[in-house]
Amino acid sequence: MSLKYPLPRGTRDILPEEMPFWHHVEDTARSIFSAYNYQEIRTPIFELTELFERGIGDGTDIVEKEMYTFTDKGERRLTLRPEGTAPIARAYLQNGLGKKEPQSKLYYCGPMFRYERPQAGRYRQFYQIGVENIGNEHPFADAELISMGVHLFDEMGISGLSVTLNSVGCLVCRPVIEERLKQFLGSNLKHMCDDCNRRFSVNPLRILDCKNATCKTYRTAIPDIQESLCHGCSDHFSSVVEYIEALGIPFQINPQLVRGLDYYTRTAFEIVSDQLGAQNALCGGGRYDGLIQHLGGPATPAVGFAFGVDRAVMILKELSDILKQKNKLIYVAPIGASQQPRCFYLVDTLRRAGFKVEIDYSKDDIKYQLKQANKLGATRCIIYGDREFESDTVIIKNMVTTEQTTIPFDNVISFLSTHADTLPHTS
Ligand code: HAM
Repeated sequence: MSLKYPLPRGTRDILPEEMPFWHHVEDTARSIFSAYNYQEIRTPIFELTELFERGIGDGTDIVEKEMYTFTDKGERRLTLRPEGTAPIARAYLQNGLGKKEPQSKLYYCGPMFRYERPQAGRYRQFYQIGVENIGNEHPFADAELISMGVHLFDEMGISGLSVTLNSVGCLVCRPVIEERLKQFLGSNLKHMCDDCNRRFSVNPLRILDCKNATCKTYRTAIPDIQESLCHGCSDHFSSVVEYIEALGIPFQINPQLVRGLDYYTRTAFEIVSDQLGAQNALCGGGRYDGLIQHLGGPATPAVGFAFGVDRAVMILKELSDILKQKNKLIYVAPIGASQQPRCFYLVDTLRRAGFKVEIDYSKDDIKYQLKQANKLGATRCIIYGDREFESDTVIIKNMVTTEQTTIPFDNVISFLSTHADTLPHTS
């Protein structure tokens, strides 16, 4: 069927069947963030365009090519947020969070918008969950954050990840790094793409982020950024490395990792998955000690990361066991219309006790009811007909093994609470 008004390119509907995966990712993130004492913050979906232009950087792909920018009826230039860090920095300043606490540990979840070429795992509206630790300059904060990222994905059940790390220097050593890069690349610039040529003078570090295959070949023997770091950055990086080694987290140093946003200083890192294909970056982050000052606030160190929820769900969908564990549905089957009122009461009692329960009042024959229970993937079906009414019992059918047990009506909750496949969803 050709729809008159189809979805805009790069967007999609997330249907109920996919939701258990999304909830699993979101619930796990919330519980891990809470263990590290992070608190949720929500900011608007759109902000003044200048916030992103200044915050993310003029010479980045996001600002040059990917922002959804529009003018509203009051002639304001607004942009649908392409990422969460600049808005959080703005909210931190606007709400005086730095005056309330020496350190703000914030997390956020929500849609982001980038005009990118859509493909598997890359959308124009996508979802991020991110954390920002503002006010802490210590390398422990960087290491703790990387460790929290790894912990988070472990807890979600995502394996096969690798952590890549680099230091991109600070305002002191960045000019030295850029000058060395320019000296190295200058003679080959004519063979490289238009973006690299333009960025050579305005933002040479961005050249390291270019995905063009030809440009990549000219970067193979590029000077190592690490060798041009100032003492402060070099010491900071050594400490981050030492701390994550102490936690036993496997990682690699990639001297060409610069990430696609200009606000990074010192630590930059990515967590990639071998299960994601070309768009293999699941999580990216780093330190941004200059951003808050750049936006008009006091000098404030900060470090954070964000991961793509769409991509985490893509990986988890391969592991459908998670779905089965979460979907402990109990189906209540009244046999005969006269038994429906008592089942109506039973369903209410079970739901209030935290069980996930379904009932269908449209038909009351056993064949239909069991078919429905199967179709919905229920783990147990509670059958209640005339015979059960007479003896004040219920039959509990295990939908996996087909075994049936008859128990007193009043014992339903205690029975379900002692069987792992039917524990309440709140447990
Ligand atoms: P980012 O690397 O641009 O960093 O995005 C983080 C993650 O968002 C990526 O690793 C990827 O999983 C997901 N992502 C990005 N673009 C798309 C897309 N078009 N479709 C699907 N998923 C996507 C940031 O946004 C920084 N704000 C992270 C940060 C927080 N740094 C410090 N604090």
